[in-house]
This record gives sequence, C-alpha cells and structure tokens, in this order.
Amino acid sequence: MLHQDPHAVLPQSSVNEAARQNFLNQLGKHVLNEITPGNKAAYEKRVLPKFKAKEGREPETRHEIRKAMVHDPYYQMTSSFQRTVQEMMWNSVDDTIQRQLPELIKTAKDIREGETVGSLTLDQDFEIPAYVAENDHHCMPGGYSGDLVEDDITAGALYDKGAYIYTQGLFGTRMDGIGKATALMLGREFPDFNPEKILEIGCTAGAASTGIKGFYPDAEIHAIDVGPAVLRYGHARAESFGIPIHFHQMSGEDLKFDDESFDLVNCGATFHEMSRPAVYNVFKETYRVLKPGGVFLMSELPPYDGMDPWMQFVKDWDTYNNNEPFWGTMHEMDFAEVAEAAGFDPSKYWQGFGPGIAEANALTNAVEVQNKKFMGSTRGGGNAWYAHMVK
Ligand SMILES: C[S@@+](CC[C@H](N)C(=O)[O-])C[C@H]1O[C@@H](n2cnc3c(N)ncnc32)[C@H](O)[C@@H]1O
Repeated sequence: MLHQDPHAVLPQSSVNEAARQNFLNQLGKHVLNEITPGNKAAYEKRVLPKFKAKEGREPETRHEIRKAMVHDPYYQMTSSFQRTVQEMMWNSVDDTIQRQLPELIKTAKDIREGETVGSLTLDQDFEIPAYVAENDHHCMPGGYSGDLVEDDITAGALYDKGAYIYTQGLFGTRMDGIGKATALMLGREFPDFNPEKILEIGCTAGAASTGIKGFYPDAEIHAIDVGPAVLRYGHARAESFGIPIHFHQMSGEDLKFDDESFDLVNCGATFHEMSRPAVYNVFKETYRVLKPGGVFLMSELPPYDGMDPWMQFVKDWDTYNNNEPFWGTMHEMDFAEVAEAAGFDPSKYWQGFGPGIAEANALTNAVEVQNKKFMGSTRGGGNAWYAHMVK
C-alpha cells in the first residue's frame, strides 16, 4: 500500500482512485517481476537459435538482439503490458489531478502571493528546448512543458504523484530519496565539503533539492527547470514543507548566473532526457558557474559500457517503448570526455557507484522499498551511478 507524505499541493486520491492506483502499482510490479523475465527463455529457446542459424554467429550488439526480439510474441506481449500499465498509471493520476485542478492552482498561487521562505522566477520569453517540448518523456501526458491553463501545475503534480507510484515508492514518502542519496554520496566523497551555494539542474518538482537541503541546512539552494508548471508546483510544495528553495525557469544550457558563483552543482537523473549537444552545453555552463574548487555531481543509471549485449538490450527497453528517445544515446556517452571538453581537469574526474535511494531511505528511516526491479530493467534501489568532478 502506497502512502506519500501529504503537502499543500499534493493531489488527494478518492477511495476509488487510490484503489485504482494501488492496483496499477501491484500490476506494474507483477508484470516486471513475474512476466518480463520470461523474455530470457524466449530469447534462448526461440530467438537466439534462429539468429545463429541465419547469421552463423551470436548477436554482437543490443540492437541486433532487439531487432530479432521484436518479432517474438512473448516480447511483444510483455512490452505491450509494460507500455499499457505505464499509460494506465499516468491516466489514473491525471484523473485525480484534473478533478481538483482549480483548487490546486489556487493553493499554489496563494502560497506564491503570501509570505514565502523561497522564491519562484518564471521567464515569459523562455523558449522550452525541443527535446523537452516535443516529447512526453516516460509517457507522462503533456510531458514537462505543458502549460495548458493559466498558472498550471499539472506537470509537477503528475511527476510528484505519478513517479511515486511509477517507482513503487522507491523515492521515499517525500520523494526526496534522490536528494538524500546525493547528500550521502557527497558526504562519502567530500567529507569536509560544506557548500554555501548550490545549484540543482532539472529540478522538476524540487524533491531532490528539498532532500539535499536537509543535509546542508545553511546552504542557499537554487533549482532550475525549463517547465513552468513543474516550477510552480515545486515552489508551492517546498513552501508547504517550510523549505527555502529559489526556483527559476532557466535552461542548464544557458545559465543566468554569474561566473564562479556556486560551490556545488547537482544534476540528477536529467541527462537521459536531454539531447547529446545539450549535455555538452550543460557541462560547459556548469564549469563556468562553479567556483574554483567547486564540485559538479551527476547521477544517472549506469552506462552500458561493460554490460553484455543482453543486459544492454534489457536496459534499453525505455528508448524504444517508453518515450525516452535519448536514453540509449546517454547510456553510451563518455562523461569523462564530456567533462574534459567543458574544461574540467581529467585527473579530478571520478565515476562509479555510490549510495542508492534504498540506502538513503533506510538510513533516514523513510520507507522500506522492494529492492528488486521496476520498469523495463533491473533498476533497483541499490547502488546508484555517479560522476563527480572538481573545478
Ligand atoms: C527526470 S526529471 C529530473 C528529476 C529530478 N532531478 C528529481 O530529482 O526529482 C528531468 C527534468 O529535467 C528538466 N530539463 C530538461 N532539460 C533541461 C534543461 N536544459 N535545463 C533545465 N532543466 C531541464 C525537465 O524539464 C525535467 O523536469
């Protein structure tokens, strides 16, 4: 049974809606943990022998495996189940939001216009990059950029409530598990580091920023995103928890902050939703705004490098079936090379595994999660993959 910590703009499910959402949560787990693993048998018993008979060798890349697997009825069935559950889940959350949208918009507006501890700065002339505006990432209806009614907050509410169900509670009851894991990672790698000014790139509903703030209570935190509705929601949400965060509508590719003005820049689970040139631009801008000695920390799902082609194929399901067009490209990127191109000293670049969300949540006593699988791959709450570099 899922239970997310309430706050002023969290959409409240009716009894019927909650039953539907819990059902979809269970169905998602069942499909992933009990049904999709059968693809391995379909591959070994049917697809691989056929491939070998035709080509006289084993598949060498995930693309060859995918092109063979898409004709297999079991893979077609599991992909269809996964995609359908995903769409049903978002729709179930969207129904809950639309039923109370006018009140949620009013609450967010009242919070903005009242006494606040943080701030919200939107840019009327801002042009949302095509890689966000033209795609509904992970099938979220309207994506991150939708601003369908005046003062809309839908995209933020969808992400906050939907991602909680989608990740089966993995991010914790306050959705701040990523932020807590990030802070644990920083504490492990840079024990004496005490950043005064922090920038979060791709903050969405601001959940990571609020998690980080708990570990660095004196830091001034600026959180940026391109979508106005996620920012309005994130601001109201942080204010409702009494956590001061300064939200800005801004692209990580074109930061409106002074050179050498931040001690820490964090970018979590965001590069997989950006185009390849955009990733290079964000690294360059990050280098510019970091103070000498400042740290850039990024976290993502691990690169494909070193995985066998079957595992790469499993992990790459989202690229072709879950509206994640940059997923595969990003997992092949060499971030050490991207960092060097931006100006970072290669000897101060590190990448590897660190505390995951489950560890962060267990340590902070937030929630017990099923550390097994969710969505198209064996993404669990165990270790997370990070890269960090020092200017
Ligand atoms: C998967 S979400 C990130 C989740 C978030 N970091 C968290 O911890 O909850 C990706 C976010 O990055 C934002 N984004 C994409 N391109 C961006 C850019 N160029 N600058 C700033 N934000 C961007 C999207 O609008 C979206 O809200």
